[in-house]
Amino acid sequence: MEQRVLGRTGREVSVVGLGTWQLGADWGQVREEDALAVLDAAVESGVTFFDTADVYGDGRSERLIGRFLRERGDAGVFVATKMGRRVDQVPENYTLDNFRAWTDRSRANLGVDTLDLVQLHCPPTPVYSSDEVFDALDTLVAEERIAAYAVSVETCAEALTAIARPGVASVQIILNPFRLKPLQEVLPAAAEAGVGIIARVPLASGLLTGRYTRETVFSPDDHRSFNRHGEAFDQGETFSGVDYETGLQAAAEFVELVPEGATPAQTALRWVVQQPGVTSVIPGARNPEQARANAAAAALPPLSKETLAAIEDLYDRRIRAQVHHRW
Ligand SMILES: NC(=O)c1ccc[n+]([C@@H]2O[C@H](COP(=O)([O-])OP(=O)(O)OC[C@H]3O[C@@H](n4cnc5c(N)ncnc54)[C@H](OP(=O)(O)O)[C@@H]3O)[C@@H](O)[C@H]2O)c1
Repeated sequence: MEQRVLGRTGREVSVVGLGTWQLGADWGQVREEDALAVLDAAVESGVTFFDTADVYGDGRSERLIGRFLRERGDAGVFVATKMGRRVDQVPENYTLDNFRAWTDRSRANLGVDTLDLVQLHCPPTPVYSSDEVFDALDTLVAEERIAAYAVSVETCAEALTAIARPGVASVQIILNPFRLKPLQEVLPAAAEAGVGIIARVPLASGLLTGRYTRETVFSPDDHRSFNRHGEAFDQGETFSGVDYETGLQAAAEFVELVPEGATPAQTALRWVVQQPGVTSVIPGARNPEQARANAAAAALPPLSKETLAAIEDLYDRRIRAQVHHRW
C-alpha cells in the first residue's frame, strides 16, 4: 500500500490506516477475538498505521493493540494514541505531571517505552494557545516518553492555531464528503508547514456506506444512539454532525455517484486520500471484512473531476447549511 510521511514525525504510514475506537467501546459490543481479527486483517491488507486513545474502552483499545503487537512480533505498525479525555475538560488539567501519568499508562497499555505519537484529544480551545502546554509536550519528547506529539481537533480554527506551533507533528480532523471545510484553509496550511493530516470519521460514522435506513437500530451503547445531539461529546463526532434524516437522503444520492468496481465506503475513502495535504485516512472497522475492504480503497483509481464536482454539489445542496459554520 502507498506510504506517506506523517508530517513532522518523519515516519511513513499507510495512506489507509485503521481507527480503533470500535475496539474499545461506544459502538456496541465487539468481542476480543473479533477485535484482534480486525487488527490482523488490517495489517495483512497493508495497513501500517493504527489510531487509538487512552479513553477508548478506558484503555481496552490500547491494550488490545499492545497484545496484538506483542503476539505478532515485528508488525511494523506506527501507533498514534491520544490523551486528555479521562478527566474533566478544563485547561487546568493539561499539566506536565498529568501528561507524565497519562503517557505512562498508555506506554504500559501498549507495551512500549516510547509512544510513536500522542495527540491531545480534542482539548478545550484555550489549550491550543497555552505555551506551557506545548513546553510540557516538548519535555515528554526530551524524556523519550513520546517520539512526537500532535493534536486531534474539532474545528478548523483549532487546527490552524495548532499548525502554527513548531512542534506539532500532525493534526487529526474530520474530513469526508459530508465535511468539506478543512479543504479551504487547513489542508493547504498543513502542507505548507509540513504538518501531517490524519482524516477521521471518513465514513460519517458509516452513513456514507449507504447501508442505513430509517429502520436501522443502533444499540443503546452505540454513540449513534446516545450522542446524536451531542449529549455525551461533540455532536460533530456522530454522523459528522449531520442530522440522521438529512444524512440518509444525502447518502442515497452519494451512492449514485459511486464508480463501477467500488463500494460507497471505498469511494468515500478514495475521495479523502486524494485531497492534497492528507497523509492518512483512518476508517473504523467492526469486523475483518470491513477492515479489508477499507484497505483496498488505497488501490482504486483516483475519482474523476466529474465525480469530485458532483460530491461538492451534493455537499452544497444537502449538508453545508448544517455543518459548515460549526466546525
Ligand atoms: N476526537 C477524536 O479524536 C476522534 C473522534 C472520532 C473518531 N476518531 C478516530 O477516527 C476513527 C474513524 O472514525 P469513526 O470510527 O468514528 O467513523 P467512520 O470511520 O466514519 O465509521 C466507522 C463505521 O463505518 C462502518 N464501516 C466501516 N467500514 C465499512 C465497510 N467497509 N463497509 C460497510 N460499513 C463500514 C461501520 O459501521 P457499523 O458499526 O454500523 O458496521 C463502522 O463502525 C475512529 O475509529 C477513531 O480512531 C477520533
